[in-house]
Amino acid sequence: MNWAAVILAAGKGTRMKSSTPKVLHRLAGREMIHYVIDAAQQAQLKRIVLVVGHESQKVRELLGDSVEYAEQEEQLGTAHALLQARGKLEGTVDNVLVLNGDIPLISGETLREMMHHHSATRASATIMTATGGSPEGLGRVIRDESGQVVGVIEEAEADSTQKEIGETNSGAYCFRAEWLWPRLAELPRSKGGEYYLTDLIALAARSGEKVESITTQNPLEGLGINNRIHLAQAEAALRQRIREQVMLSGVTLIDPPSTFIDATVEIGPDTVIYPNTIIEGATKIDQECVIGPSSIIADSLIGRGCHIQASVIEASTLEDDVEVGPFSHLRPESYLEAGVHIGNFVEIKKSRLGKETKVGHFSYLGDATIGRNVNIGAGTITCNYDGVQKHPTFIDDDAFIGSDSMLVAPVRIGARAITAAGSVVNHDVPPDMLAVGAPARLRAKKR
Ligand code: UD1
Ligand code: CA
Repeated sequence: MNWAAVILAAGKGTRMKSSTPKVLHRLAGREMIHYVIDAAQQAQLKRIVLVVGHESQKVRELLGDSVEYAEQEEQLGTAHALLQARGKLEGTVDNVLVLNGDIPLISGETLREMMHHHSATRASATIMTATGGSPEGLGRVIRDESGQVVGVIEEAEADSTQKEIGETNSGAYCFRAEWLWPRLAELPRSKGGEYYLTDLIALAARSGEKVESITTQNPLEGLGINNRIHLAQAEAALRQRIREQVMLSGVTLIDPPSTFIDATVEIGPDTVIYPNTIIEGATKIDQECVIGPSSIIADSLIGRGCHIQASVIEASTLEDDVEVGPFSHLRPESYLEAGVHIGNFVEIKKSRLGKETKVGHFSYLGDATIGRNVNIGAGTITCNYDGVQKHPTFIDDDAFIGSDSMLVAPVRIGARAITAAGSVVNHDVPPDMLAVGAPARLRAKKR
């Protein structure tokens, strides 16, 4: 059997009270729509048509040509949204899987199960329902005495007895295409003025078509995100799922609830993560690291055996066996070669530090290229900004920068050179020289 998926993502998401379209709100660092697309892909759907409308350009920018698009110019309801995919799909597939774009916790496995059930029973429509969750705001599933699904009633239209029904529509359906497309086009508007996809279920049942259902065991799978409370619920569930995956893959989390790891992060085995740590974006941490407590790492590559304590690392690379912290900050484009030691209260921006170089205390290094085995004394500052432009600093291998040195860029400190404590260096220092004073004058090195 030939399938395609249609994901409905044209709505504004009014209840989010946001200038960002609903499906672009993030969960564990990834836009909500990714999770729904992933689930469809895990269910082996090759063709995925995304119905876009509100701020569709933003959605298209994010997803590029990984999916097909149908545009819904005016948001007239879920049935109207699905109808926009007709031109792309009619006559090309036997069955259509329809997913609301705001159900990020749906799993590929459950979709697979529903599709299998739909095919096996030769149903015209199959609906996914959930029990055990809060029914508030959701469509209630109506069954007859024999238990057959005969319709879905939206909460806005439900009477008080119908509101008592605990079984809800999850927002995932299978339809036999041949039956679907003509019916969809003829569906009348609901009393509320929208075209409800859910009205198709009653239409099918009334006209004697086979309507099937499957009910998810886990009410979270049917969690539709309509407001920020739902968003936080989905966030909590996803974060917990990620923690469990990470722990099963060999990472120790000392305090899972206070450890926040984005869905996009990879962490190697035998790494230990201490409490109050946030790991975000395109971060990869190799094995045997000790991370935290109280650290934030975003979009960074961390080599094997690194120790990061109470520090913030953004868009930077650490080779193996690097130590950072406590209380230091690596700003974007910092690159620390193997064995570098960064102690406390150090800020590094857009700088490369060679192997085994040490910056123990209270320093700012910006736009600097520093060789191997350099010792940067306490309080050293690269004065990289003259008020107009940024300038580079070069410190070559084995140099020794004395405490409280001010390196006025552009400047180069040669290999094995020494700057004395408190020196203000505003000229290049040749290799093997000693620079002293403020501003520094040159003298021959004694040793
Ligand atoms: C819908 C169902 C409800 C179900 C719930 C599950 C209908 C009429 N109701 O309600 O029975 O319990 O989902 O979460 O379908 N969309 C469009 N174009 C539109 C309107 C909506 O693309 O014109 C998209 C939205 O972007 C969203 C999805 O369809 O991704 C569902 O729309 P939403 O307004 O959230 O429906 P619910 O009120 O949650
Ligand atoms: Ca919804």
